[in-house]
Order: sequence, then structure tokens, then C-alpha cells
Amino acid sequence: MRVLMCPPTHFRIAYEINAWMDRRRQPDSRLAQLQWDRLVVTLRSLGARIELIQPNPRQPDMVFTANAGLIRGQRFIPSNFRYQERRGERRYFVRYFHQRGYQVTPISPGSSFEGEGDVLPYRDLLFAGFRQRSDIRSHQGLGQLLPQRVISLELVDPKFYHLDTCFLPLDSRSVLFYPGAFDRYGQRAIREFVANPIPVTREEALRFVCNGVVLRKTILMNQPSRRLIQLLKQLSYRVQDTPTSEFLKAGGSCKCLVLTLSKPPSSI
Ligand code: ARG
Repeated sequence: MRVLMCPPTHFRIAYEINAWMDRRRQPDSRLAQLQWDRLVVTLRSLGARIELIQPNPRQPDMVFTANAGLIRGQRFIPSNFRYQERRGERRYFVRYFHQRGYQVTPISPGSSFEGEGDVLPYRDLLFAGFRQRSDIRSHQGLGQLLPQRVISLELVDPKFYHLDTCFLPLDSRSVLFYPGAFDRYGQRAIREFVANPIPVTREEALRFVCNGVVLRKTILMNQPSRRLIQLLKQLSYRVQDTPTSEFLKAGGSCKCLVLTLSKPPSSI
């Protein structure tokens, strides 16, 4: 797996654009750097190749590269950030991918779209979250650009404002998800399309266990519960506790810090 990350040099809570952020609760910069470094070391030890984009002092959330956009093959679909505070990131990501020969294909500027934070592939489908950040209209744009069928899921809880905060595809059968983040229709859609949907509790979800990174049979996640470790062991997964307390203050964890550039052909 190849991923894009951005060092947390300028990471701080400079504004409040989700239910987690509070300017009075700043991350400890040293600890944030340590946690990010540890994520990098762990990913590398599991065979991931990491590319880095330079951080920008005016864009403290740039560390959450999952929101840069969506990569599909050699195509980069840049995000249309919902909030002004993050819009400045776009030019850096577009330039980065343009310089590396990616075809940059924007979707209509009229609808907000927050990249891999809200779009997760599962088998031959793309599950896509909307309402809190991405607009449902952006899913139409995606559907026109990409061959995959897009399954739209409405996100109803402000604490779970991106799909990757409450939905984690593990393989071609199993997905971890927090049911309370979805409406009844969304919950039904998940159960209909996913062979083995595994619900997590609210307590687990608030620790961002669904914001994990899956590398073959290892899952990196912040503070997994004993219950989850056991349950995933039965599916022959090893869970690696990867603390991200400082990033949780901004509403992000392992998965938000990583943008998928490519995956081995065997995985989902
Ligand atoms: N503070 C960032 C924001 O509100 C956090 C983004 C987290 N990223 C994610 N993929 N869930 O936009």
C-alpha cells in the first residue's frame, strides 16, 4: 500500500469546524509529533510506502490528508472543502498530484466533497457519506466520473461527521461500523450490501475505532477495546493499538492522517 501523509508541524486547533474541536483544548505538539511518528514507523514496518507533502503554517488541518481528495488509479479528484478554513489546502494538494503526473479531475464546484474522508471502497462499490461535510450532489458527480456504483449514506450524528469516523471496510466480507451514526435507511443499506457488518458501541466509536488503517491482517486503531480485539481475532485480524489522543482533539485519528494512493491488488 502507498499512502500520502503530512507532518503535523503546524497542527493545532485554530478554529472549530466540527463537534470535537475546541480552541481551549490545544494538542500537545510534542506528543502529536510522537504519535504521528509512531504511526509512520508502524505503517512502514507493515510494508506501507509513505509519501509526504510539505505542511503549510496557514493550514493546520492539512495533516488530515484523507480529506485532500480521492485517488482512483492515476486520477485525483480534489476535495471541495465545506468550510472556508480548509479551502486553502486544495491548491497544495492539486499542485502535488499535478506535478506527479496525476490527472486532476474536479467535480462540480457547487457541491462540497471531502475526499476519502467521505468515500470508502468496498468490493466493487463506493460507500459515500453526506450531509455533515460532503453534499449528496457530489455523489452524482462521482458517479459520472467513476465506474463504481456509489451507495450514499446519510450521517446524522455531528460527532461522526465524515464516513471514515464510523465505517471501516476490512475485507470483501466485513465492515466495522457504528450504527448510531446512520439513519435507518443507511443502516439498512449497510446490512444489505455488506456480508458481515460488525457494529461497534458508541463508546468504542467515540474512541475512533472505526478510523483505523487496515494492512492485510493488521488493523491500526486508537485504543481498541478488549471486546473488539477478541472479536477481530476470530476473523484472524491483529489489532495494533496506535494512540492518537492529540488528533482526536481535532476530530481525527489514524485513517484521517492517511490518504490511500494505491492498494495491493488482493485487497478491497
Ligand atoms: N479538523 C478536521 C476537520 O474538521 C478533521 C478532519 C478529520 N478527517 C477525517 N478524514 N475524518 O475537517
